[in-house]
Amino acid sequence: MGVRAIKKVTIIGSGAMGSGIAEVHIVNGINTVMVDINNDLLQKAKEKINSNLTFLVNKQKMTQVAMDEAMARLATSTDITSSVKDADCIIEAVPELMDLKKKIFKTVSDAARTDAIIASNTSSLSISELAETVSEPSRFAGFHFFNPVNRMRLVEVIYGQKTSDEVIDTLMDLGEKLGKVAIKVLRDRPGFIVNRINAPLQPLWSAILDEGKISPASIDTVMKNHGAKMGPFELMDFVGLDVIYNVMQYYKTTLSPEWEPGKFITECVKKNELGMKTGKGIYVWEGGKAIIDSSIVTDIIKPIDPLAVQLNEAVRVLKEKVAASAEDIDKGQEAGMNQPGPFKTAMSIDNKLLAERLNWMSETYNLTYLKPEPEILDGSFKSFMR
Ligand SMILES: NC(=O)c1ccc[n+]([C@@H]2O[C@H](COP(=O)([O-])OP(=O)(O)OC[C@H]3O[C@@H](n4cnc5c(N)ncnc54)[C@H](O)[C@@H]3O)[C@@H](O)[C@H]2O)c1
Repeated sequence: MGVRAIKKVTIIGSGAMGSGIAEVHIVNGINTVMVDINNDLLQKAKEKINSNLTFLVNKQKMTQVAMDEAMARLATSTDITSSVKDADCIIEAVPELMDLKKKIFKTVSDAARTDAIIASNTSSLSISELAETVSEPSRFAGFHFFNPVNRMRLVEVIYGQKTSDEVIDTLMDLGEKLGKVAIKVLRDRPGFIVNRINAPLQPLWSAILDEGKISPASIDTVMKNHGAKMGPFELMDFVGLDVIYNVMQYYKTTLSPEWEPGKFITECVKKNELGMKTGKGIYVWEGGKAIIDSSIVTDIIKPIDPLAVQLNEAVRVLKEKVAASAEDIDKGQEAGMNQPGPFKTAMSIDNKLLAERLNWMSETYNLTYLKPEPEILDGSFKSFMR
């Protein structure tokens, strides 16, 4: 299948994601127009990119000349219509609101070239539904970056029901030119690949908080002792408990009612104790750091095994044909989460131990979703690795 050359890109939305997506394009030689609703926002986004690149220059990871050339490739506009006219590819990164995105795609479709690729950075909205707003849905795909875009290595390239292989291959190629690990998502299912395999950990952490027997500090400490940069509870506070709450609501309606946010998280959201941004959440935060008592580590946490949970979901993702291979899932987890791939890691672990732990977590926290898949019970998941 052919791959088209992408020389000019328009990015709609210059917030956390849009500005990061613009940055990786200009650094990699692609002329980019960044669009937002006013010039103040665009100026802020431009300053953020400037400061990220200055940091690289100061660290001698980029030359001043390369930075100046990159910044010269960046244009800004408050007008979608004129800025998409001659774009080869348009990437949308506005807030996660179906109606807003649909309205924008209609404008884009009316103004862009009929062969321009149109992509959304959405994390949760249906690619197939968004695609119906453009004149030729075969040119529409998901192009899902991870935050922060300049540091996270993954991009997921997602098929809608009508997306052409050529469009997917072109976005895969573009993703790789941006220095990313690009993986194909064959079906437009909730959470795509990487967010999906990590999603079942949320009801588990929520149930642990509600039960109150094991302290978040002891789990975070053990995870950090095993090489994680942040433990799961620290990460929840870092991301924001309101964000976690909303993500759980999303999976509750799309995957299983067991994602119902628990009492602890719901109370925190009600009290506006959202984590780092409000100074208190699961932990108290001071100077951008969570205060974690790392002296208490209990032995009960042994059967709490995030890898087993991720693997169980990864098996489902593969069976549902959302991912093309176990290798792709591993690549995604490594580049999108900076965590070891579940299949690769589990190859050397006794499947009975994984199944036992899943059963223990499922029964202890009353989460049937965590029951082991047949391929974990009989160990046949190991044959998924080529
Ligand atoms: N933040 C994340 O961690 C993350 C990760 C992956 C994907 N996403 C997805 O990326 C998208 C953007 O998220 P974000 O975190 O960058 O949001 P954000 O709120 O930081 O930025 C959105 C930007 O879009 C602009 N905007 C709003 N209406 C507009 C319009 N009509 N025309 C042009 N610009 C408009 C806003 O002014 C804002 O600058 C969402 O779909 C989100 O789900 C976010």
